[in-house]
Amino acid sequence: MNYPNNMNLLIIGNGQLGQEISAICLKSGINYKILNIPLFDITNEKDIENFKIKDFSTVINASAYTDVEKAEEESDLADSVNAKGPHFISRKCAKDNVPLIHVSTDYVFDGNSQKKYTENDVVNPINQYGSSKEKGESHIRNNLKKHIIIRTSWLYSTYGNNFVKSMITLGRDRETLSIVNDQYGSPTYAFDLATVIVEICDKINKNDNIIWGTYHYSNKGKASWYDFAAKTFDLVKDHEKLKLKKLNGIPTSEYPTVAKRPFNSELDCSLIKKNFGIDIKLWKESLKIMITKLMEKK
Ligand SMILES: NC(=O)c1ccc[n+]([C@@H]2O[C@H](COP(=O)([O-])OP(=O)(O)OC[C@H]3O[C@@H](n4cnc5c(N)ncnc54)[C@H](OP(=O)(O)O)[C@@H]3O)[C@@H](O)[C@H]2O)c1
Repeated sequence: MNYPNNMNLLIIGNGQLGQEISAICLKSGINYKILNIPLFDITNEKDIENFKIKDFSTVINASAYTDVEKAEEESDLADSVNAKGPHFISRKCAKDNVPLIHVSTDYVFDGNSQKKYTENDVVNPINQYGSSKEKGESHIRNNLKKHIIIRTSWLYSTYGNNFVKSMITLGRDRETLSIVNDQYGSPTYAFDLATVIVEICDKINKNDNIIWGTYHYSNKGKASWYDFAAKTFDLVKDHEKLKLKKLNGIPTSEYPTVAKRPFNSELDCSLIKKNFGIDIKLWKESLKIMITKLMEKK
């Protein structure tokens, strides 16, 4: 894709998603700057106030506190990064009239619905991480008109740590594994989400009748964590022999966690598709691309 050379993106957060976005910028010749803690801390208002956000066409907040388990103990820190940080960023964006793309999560919902969640469904987080992210969303809506909040789910990438990489490590070490088979969602390749974010930045830059607000984006199709693990192992076996012989599906009740997890967090992504003309890939196809890339990196 060709992008105009007057696009200048500020990416906050150098994790899985931040690195995918910066890799796309680098490859496409888009001007960008990426910031991360400790040099730039979104919970420190001075770091944000002193930064020349005005120089950028769009700010992308890909930073977050993402440890769902630890957030139960460290709820103050989770709130600080996921709620106070977005509050400071969006206030500064409003002051400097720069649009903001912010990333949120399927965990703002309680997971009790039998249907896919739409942007209009009522939020009701059941853990501290989800609650902190929901507060961040509210601050942005209150502070800044020109915002796009994208809720996504079950992110993985060749960068950083994630479920896919953990499964591969376990599959190399163990003969038997048990994975939860009664929580459902949509695995999402961070590269696909990064591509969508850059496309939206391009539309913002071209003043392309943007409909600001909250959107859902994940890869297409529903899976349990067991399905996600099983597909990962199937795909990895095309590249290497694993020690793993048996994969068991178990209910949530047999895998206790500190943080409660939603049973269904499948997102309805029709709005982003309609308003931005986004093409949404099937999760199994994107996983195949990621694993091929990961195996090439070995
Ligand atoms: N991962 C998932 O499964 C998932 C699912 C749904 C939604 N999301 C959302 O998607 C977005 C991207 O997630 P991700 O998986 O790319 O996250 P990630 O890999 O954990 O990256 C988050 C980044 O934010 C940085 N960060 C943390 N605190 C900061 C602070 N105070 N100031 C500046 N930077 C800070 C982290 O730095 P350090 O590493 O140095 O701490 C890290 O580089 C997040 O908004 C997340 O909530 C993620």
